[in-house]
Amino acid sequence: MVPAARGGSSPAAMRHLLSVNDLGSEGLKEMMRIADFFVEISTRPIPKVPALRGKTVACAFFEGSTRTRLSFEAAAKRLSADIMSFGASGSSMSKGESLKDTVTTIESLGADVIVVRHASAGVASQVASWVSIPVVNAGDGWHEHPTQALLDCYTIRQALGAESFQGLKVVMVGDLMHSRVARSNVLALSAMGARVNLVAPRTLWPVSLDGWPVEGITCDLDPLLEKADLVYLLRLQTERGAGRLLPSLREYAAMYQLTARRAAMMPKDSLIMHPGPVNRGVEMSSEVAEMPGALVGSQVANGVVVRMAVLYQLLVGGEGVGVLDPTAPDVAPAPAALRSAGVHHGAPGPSDTSSDSTPSTRSTPRTPSTRRSAGA
Ligand code: MLT
Repeated sequence: MVPAARGGSSPAAMRHLLSVNDLGSEGLKEMMRIADFFVEISTRPIPKVPALRGKTVACAFFEGSTRTRLSFEAAAKRLSADIMSFGASGSSMSKGESLKDTVTTIESLGADVIVVRHASAGVASQVASWVSIPVVNAGDGWHEHPTQALLDCYTIRQALGAESFQGLKVVMVGDLMHSRVARSNVLALSAMGARVNLVAPRTLWPVSLDGWPVEGITCDLDPLLEKADLVYLLRLQTERGAGRLLPSLREYAAMYQLTARRAAMMPKDSLIMHPGPVNRGVEMSSEVAEMPGALVGSQVANGVVVRMAVLYQLLVGGEGVGVLDPTAPDVAPAPAALRSAGVHHGAPGPSDTSSDSTPSTRSTPRTPSTRRSAGA
């Protein structure tokens, strides 16, 4: 087992979000606490605060996306930012403009932050070296997808009702070789205390497990199910060649699809997650996707508040979350100071049971008393 996510910086000091390692465990926890502040806002009739008024968020997506792009745009709108949207097709890239010229043009047009998705690993870091504004990695090839890992941790924290995932037994199944979600989630889950085991056909294993803080890897799913607190299914990345590494989708589904039969082997109250888009009948059956333990809908909903937290932290950071309070002056104390002053604008965190607010973006939390302890 190799060490979990490296230290990271405090979110307040974070310049870019390129990897889960930029956060580390304390950064992940703090970012989730900031997201709590945005949950209540999302339930208001007009779910908007002026926190990023006057700022421009550029969404530069060089690869397809539904959830990530829409949730970054929704997050920016809820914070009252302006949005500059870029898609490679129909842009000057089709006339031969380079990636560097494209992103520096976006900066020159007045963007305050660039959210980048690209099919090649390393592009987000490269962009960060070219521009002087913060960069958020919204998925770079096979490499990382840190905001997906953050929203997944937020969803697990909500479901467990626990701040730490100490001892949580996670089984991650699927296209480990090509999945950026796998890389970011392994770093994040282990940093949060979870014990991660990987399962995939041999041809979809990562080339090396160096830098993967996991307990082990196997081709055999069924024996792991009876002890799994969480089964995390990864999409087969056919656009990156996963299909060519399998005899057939049918054979893959026979061995690795989470069916109702396999779900019945898992302990009661276990959780099932998938980053989407789900290939029903390949990674999971439709029946499993509709089960109460399947958190796919909560994952999507939580994407907005978590991305609000990331944009807010990168653009406002140390100036505090006072702007979230309609009665507060423009610049107000940071979250900790607000809480210690008894001001609580967000939804209750896992350790805060004093509030009776039940925002709609939260699924019903399973408190430690109603759910078996994660470490059990
Ligand atoms: C991604 O873009 O990586 C998605 O969030 C997950 C997937 O496409 O498998």
